[in-house]
Amino acid sequence: MSNYHIKHLEEYYQVYRKSVINPENFWQEVAEEHFVWRKRWDSVLEWDFTKPEINWFKGAKLNITENCLDRHLLTRGDKTAILFEPNNPEEEAQHISYKELYEKVNAFANVLKSQGIKKGDRVCIYLPMIPELAMAVLACARIGAIHSVVFAGFSATALATRINDSDCKMVLTADGSFRGAKTIDLKGIVDEALNDCSCVENVLVVKRINSDITMQKGRDQWLQPLLDKASTVCEPEIMDAEDPLFILYTSGSTGMPKGMVHTTAGYMVYTAYTFKNVFQYKENDVYWCTADIGWITGHSYIVYGPLANGATTLMFEGVPSYPDYGRFWEIIEKHKVNQFYTAPTAIRALAKEKLDYVESHDLSSLKVLGSVGEPINEEAWHWYNDNIGKKKSPIIDTWWQTETGGIMISPVPYATPTKPTYATLPLPGIQPVLMDENGNEINGNQVDGRLCIKFPWPSIARTIWGNHKRYKETYFSAFENKYFTGDGALRDEVGYYRITGRVDDVIIVSGHNLGTAPIEDAINEHPAVAESAIVGFPHDIKGSALYGYVILKETGESRNHDNLRKEINQIITEHIGPIAKLDKIQFTVGLPKTRSGKIMRRILRKIAGNDISNLGDTSTLLNPEVVQEIIENKL
Ligand code: WT7
Repeated sequence: MSNYHIKHLEEYYQVYRKSVINPENFWQEVAEEHFVWRKRWDSVLEWDFTKPEINWFKGAKLNITENCLDRHLLTRGDKTAILFEPNNPEEEAQHISYKELYEKVNAFANVLKSQGIKKGDRVCIYLPMIPELAMAVLACARIGAIHSVVFAGFSATALATRINDSDCKMVLTADGSFRGAKTIDLKGIVDEALNDCSCVENVLVVKRINSDITMQKGRDQWLQPLLDKASTVCEPEIMDAEDPLFILYTSGSTGMPKGMVHTTAGYMVYTAYTFKNVFQYKENDVYWCTADIGWITGHSYIVYGPLANGATTLMFEGVPSYPDYGRFWEIIEKHKVNQFYTAPTAIRALAKEKLDYVESHDLSSLKVLGSVGEPINEEAWHWYNDNIGKKKSPIIDTWWQTETGGIMISPVPYATPTKPTYATLPLPGIQPVLMDENGNEINGNQVDGRLCIKFPWPSIARTIWGNHKRYKETYFSAFENKYFTGDGALRDEVGYYRITGRVDDVIIVSGHNLGTAPIEDAINEHPAVAESAIVGFPHDIKGSALYGYVILKETGESRNHDNLRKEINQIITEHIGPIAKLDKIQFTVGLPKTRSGKIMRRILRKIAGNDISNLGDTSTLLNPEVVQEIIENKL
């Protein structure tokens, strides 16, 4: 039996049992057999969820890029590491071998050093989905700099907030990006953001779209000439197991985005282990995850997990609708993709189009179909299963979070029988529990509750950058001695988990995690707005869309409401990005509030979702009369 590679269901149960009975032993075996260490650990795990403090492989020394690159040179030097498919299908795909990737990352790492970046410095990466993005990430890891990738769809304000929060010394960006038929002026956005960031000393710019940009003297330089001069050998910085590897921001229900900090050894071990098992990757397979590296899915399952396994990982620059809705299927055929990992929102959007787009392509290379980011509804599950997998490729509904670093609950394809809308079983090392509102663990099957994890796993985020108190409050205070996920879940008669959605004020729109508070803060900046509340409502393609209730100041009342709606969405776009725009904006004279002044979002959610037959208890409201008013004016 191999701990590292599970092949059938009995094996899964055996390995799982082992991982729970003696987690230290289990992870020690995985770590020993599959990675390169410069020094062995002194202890496998030390933890205390009350502080909270978690150490995996304490005392060990390593560099993650040595595990992702150097060690493959001998056996896989000429194998394709990154397969790049450009936005424009007419542009040739690039096959970057492990040897080439090694050399490019080393050169990039030397450039970073020459620009004064040292171990522990933060480097913000704001790049499109081009190979330089993966190289930038790895170059930081090579020299021990902490990367903070910001998804290149975020606005200048959102970028500036993230740069300042972690005091980034450098920004890596491009002149612009291609997105379908459009181009985006990334450098212009960076320039605007940097007006508010005094911490940034240098900006390195990748030339991608050949646009006319301004380079600020003394601050901005083109990357390529620096790379051309750099040596292709850069000794890896030897890191402690618990040294931070990266920061990645995720929205919270309140306040600033949270800079989740992931550390080196545990993250490496867990992402590599889960990649191997969840995708059943075999040596000559071509694996494709459609996420952007700006999200955790891309960090763990485009870059680190696949490369740690010596896999071929496809990076796609474009969008599923360009030049037409057949693009995904065309790419699968063209590169003979074996494992395909995407989001329910993409599946729903493509399922709306003519089936011709699918049927004109040969998808017979596919073996595993993954889904991530939000619950996959039954209809989308079946469409994916019938039309893409032809009922032959198991659908892997993978549940996890930015905070968990890696996939937590998921079928193991060809081992775990799948069930539509169920993420099924916890992966080895993961101990989920369901809790009731009084903080008691709910035992047995056919129950639902709040999803917590009661034992640490190697890739759990260790803190929130600069705010350990918030880390403790957000994840370890709701339930004693447990990590609280923020999700609700149910467990069926055989112990399968189905994630039912967020139980807090986070809304998942098209797979993007959005907090209500930052959006409300943005709206409230509008001079005509007095107050606002955002809720989610069901949407065919996006899963959830945003519904805003807005109270206007007297000065706003006389204004044209459609213009106000446009202005409000404009402000949101500037503060956060177009992904956070509201689908519906209802102007109202009041919001239902409790006596302590808290907005009753539950009621607003029901109204927005057309579910007003049972609004629940409204007796604690300070102003019950506004409820009727809101219902009557519902959009
Ligand atoms: C939230 C985390 C994990 C990478 C992408 C999102 C929801 C994620 C599933 C799934 C149901 C899911 C949860 C979770 N979610 N995957 N398979 N089924 N819900 O990462 O932005 O940190 O969002 O996404 O609500 O808490 P994220």
